[in-house]
Amino acid sequence: MAENKNGTGRLAPPRHIAIIMDGNGRWAKKRGLPRTAGHKEGAETFRRIATYCKDIGVKYLTVYAFSTENWKRSETEVAAIMALLKKYLLEAVDTMERDHIRLHFFGDMTPISPELRRLARETDEITEHLSKDDFQANVCLNYGGRDEILRAARRFAADCAAGRRSPEDLSEAVFSDYLDSAGIPDPELIIRPSGEQRISNFLLWQCAYSEFYYTDTLWPDFDQAELDRAIAAYHRRDRRFGNAK
Ligand code: IPE
Ligand code: IPE
Ligand code: MG
Repeated sequence: MAENKNGTGRLAPPRHIAIIMDGNGRWAKKRGLPRTAGHKEGAETFRRIATYCKDIGVKYLTVYAFSTENWKRSETEVAAIMALLKKYLLEAVDTMERDHIRLHFFGDMTPISPELRRLARETDEITEHLSKDDFQANVCLNYGGRDEILRAARRFAADCAAGRRSPEDLSEAVFSDYLDSAGIPDPELIIRPSGEQRISNFLLWQCAYSEFYYTDTLWPDFDQAELDRAIAAYHRRDRRFGNAK
C-alpha cells in the first residue's frame, strides 16, 4: 500500500498520472454522431480532468492525444483532431499563466502544421516563466513510445559521433535524459478508459513499473468519480519493484 499522506490526512494522489484518452469514436457512434463529435467531447473531458488533477495535488498529467499510428485515420478525422488541439492551445496561451498550468509536448513535432508548432513554442515559453512546482500537463502529439526511444537513441549516437559522449556513458539515467520525458518522474499510474487493455505504443520506457488501471467508461464520460476510483485502486496495489517481503 502507498503510505504517503498529504496535509488532509488522505492518501496523497500519485505524483504523475498518465491517461490513454480512448473511446471518443465509440462514444459518438453510440449517439449516432460523427466521430469528430466524440473528439470534441473528449477535449472537454481533458479540460475537466486536468483541472481536477491540479486541484487534488497531482503534479504531472500526461495524456495521449494523437499517436504516430493515428495518421492512418481519414483526413477529415485527423484535421478535426488538429483543429481541436489548436483551439486548446489558443485558449492555453491566454489562461495557463493565470491558472498556473505548465504545458509540455511529447512526440515528434516535425510533421505537425507550422501553426500548431508555433503555438506549442508559445506555450513552451509561457511554461518557462511558470514555477517548476506548478502543475504540468504533458500532451503526447504524434507520439509513439518506440519513436521516442529511436529519436533518443539517434541523439545519443550523434553525441557519441561528435565526441560529447562515449558508449560507456549510457545508463538508464543518461538515456532517460534523451527522452521527451527528460526530468519528469515515471508515471505511477496509467489509466486506459474504453475497455481496451493494451498499451498502444504509449510511454514504453516510462511504464516499466507503472500500475495499470482499466475501465469500460468511454473517455468523454470519464469524470472525477472515475479518477477517484482509479486512484483508490492504485492505493490498494502492493508495489514491490521486484523486491520480496
Ligand atoms: C481516442 O479515441 C482519440 C484518439 C485516438 C485520437 P478514439 O478515436 O480512438 O475512439 P475509439 O477507440 O474509436 O472509440
Ligand atoms: C491510442 O488509442 C492513441 C490515443 C488515445 C491517442 P487508439 O484508439 O489509437 O489505439 P488502438 O488502435 O485501439 O490500439
Ligand atoms: Mg481508440
